[in-house]
Amino acid sequence: MPEQAPPTASYEADPAQVRRVLLLYSGGLDTSVMLKWIQDSYEAEVVCLTVNLGQPGEDYSAIEDKAKRLGALECRVVDARERFAGEFLVPAIKANAEYGDGYPLFTALGRPLIAALAVEHARETGCDTIAHGCTGKGNDQVRIEATVATLAPELKTIAPVRSWQMGREEEIAYAREHGIPVKGGTEVAPYSIDDNLWGRSSEGRWIEDLDHAPEDDVFQLVTRPEEAPDEAEIVTVEFEQGVPVGLNGERLSLVALLERAAEIGCRHGIGVVDHIEDRIVGLKVRDIYEAPAAAIVLTAHRELERLVCTIHQNQFKPDLDRQWGYLVYAGLWWEPLRSDLDAYMDAVNAQVTGTIGLKLYKGSVGVVTRSSPNAVYDADLASFAESGGLFSQAASPGFIELWSLQSRMAHRIRQRGGEGET
Ligand code: ARG
Repeated sequence: MPEQAPPTASYEADPAQVRRVLLLYSGGLDTSVMLKWIQDSYEAEVVCLTVNLGQPGEDYSAIEDKAKRLGALECRVVDARERFAGEFLVPAIKANAEYGDGYPLFTALGRPLIAALAVEHARETGCDTIAHGCTGKGNDQVRIEATVATLAPELKTIAPVRSWQMGREEEIAYAREHGIPVKGGTEVAPYSIDDNLWGRSSEGRWIEDLDHAPEDDVFQLVTRPEEAPDEAEIVTVEFEQGVPVGLNGERLSLVALLERAAEIGCRHGIGVVDHIEDRIVGLKVRDIYEAPAAAIVLTAHRELERLVCTIHQNQFKPDLDRQWGYLVYAGLWWEPLRSDLDAYMDAVNAQVTGTIGLKLYKGSVGVVTRSSPNAVYDADLASFAESGGLFSQAASPGFIELWSLQSRMAHRIRQRGGEGET
């Protein structure tokens, strides 16, 4: 039994009660050590769950084999890309979801789904506890544990990295001792990576030195802008009611569309963000993000939405978008306010149909063309030509007089107040 202080929260497992654990397994060092460590120290059985959210370059059969070799009762690999795109990315796109000006929330959007799947599979396989590999310093522990505690009050959680007090050295020693294969060199700690269809984050190493400019080897996905093609490329993104449905004139499923957008964006060095973030657990942290698909799709969506919305909607919605992004960042996916906000996002997005053309060039993405049957736009009215139809230039002076009335009065009052002073 691991030596442990008594649980702080109601959903934390009492070590004596742990019989069968559903482990969220990535195949990496932490969760592989965990797989052995849970069997040994809790004398519990372990079922592994590996979730495919579209992280590139993963060998799922190798992960499954490794889990079984390390004693897992079974290792389930779930392809959740469609569900991730449909249930998590679609609402995020409708809410132009970002946190802190530039982070498109791919990790924050993935965690509630991973945790919900953990709950489903834990119930199916008779597990009493869910284990994950998050540390005690990040947002991911909040997102996973809040989800489990919300959806499955009967299940408990354990977070061994938070309690086992092994550093990387000790973990490697433990792995060696227990015949756990350790990938790659062990001298330099790798970046801490998390990725899915919507983007990739790197943390750790020199990234923690705020004064250190990005080193090239962190960019595993996106071409460095300096090496991107000298020719610009135009991409068009077509939306129906806020949902991306076509790329460059071809209709695609959302997963295929995002994979294609990521590929084009990577080629042109799009979507790199060097980001300082206020974590909800109080820390300020730097991340390097590569989010080419999000950079393309969100830029296009934002533009199309502005075109079909009125000035009042355009003034109002960014505040709600920010609130939506913050709730999701902060691990409260299941909070009713999020679905309340979704109702508004859906109402606005009912009009968001049309096509946006973007120009990609050496790391930059800019809108170049727009078209929509719902644009609140009339070229004849907007042009400098003679007035007519719905717009009378002769009406403008009357408008200006009334529109500026209070401001003019207030200005005079302030001037009058100043006259008496010397
Ligand atoms: N800072 C980001 C967030 O909190 C990314 C976290 C990446 N997670 C990881 N385990 N490497 O959403």
